[in-house]
Amino acid sequence: MKTALVLNGPNLNLLGTREPAVYGSATLADVEQLCLRACAAHGLALDFRQSNHEGELIDWLHQAGRAEAAGSLAGVVLNAGAYTHTSVALHDAIKGAGVTLIELHISNVHAREAFRHHSYISPAAKAVMAGFGVAGYGLAIAGLAQIDSAR
Ligand code: DQA
Repeated sequence: MKTALVLNGPNLNLLGTREPAVYGSATLADVEQLCLRACAAHGLALDFRQSNHEGELIDWLHQAGRAEAAGSLAGVVLNAGAYTHTSVALHDAIKGAGVTLIELHISNVHAREAFRHHSYISPAAKAVMAGFGVAGYGLAIAGLAQIDSAR
């Protein structure tokens, strides 16, 4: 059974209490449960992580590239949080690792402030998901399973 790696970047540990009008009331633990159910439905194992540190996310992407090349990983769902809009280093890590990655945002970043409209992740991503609330995590896992089964 292959694994889906779900990576969450800065401030996503605050889900549930952070700007609930934008991000909803589900906690990160609730999102992990949702991801577990989605993975089970698609015959995938789940590896679910969160970090507030750019370098740690980069290290995890490098590991993911090696795991995907070895055949044990279907790919990555990444909510990079605000690093989406700032991090050339995450862009380079995704490309350098050669990992299959779905960019995810809980909110519709294009309907928000102008500084959220540009993503350094999108040009390195296989697909982009935004604006479905936390349900987007389940949809992204379904998409990743479909991409993987088409290989
Ligand atoms: C986010 C959108 C980003 O602009 C923001 O910085 C986040 C969360 C989202 O899930 O909607 O931290 O990635």
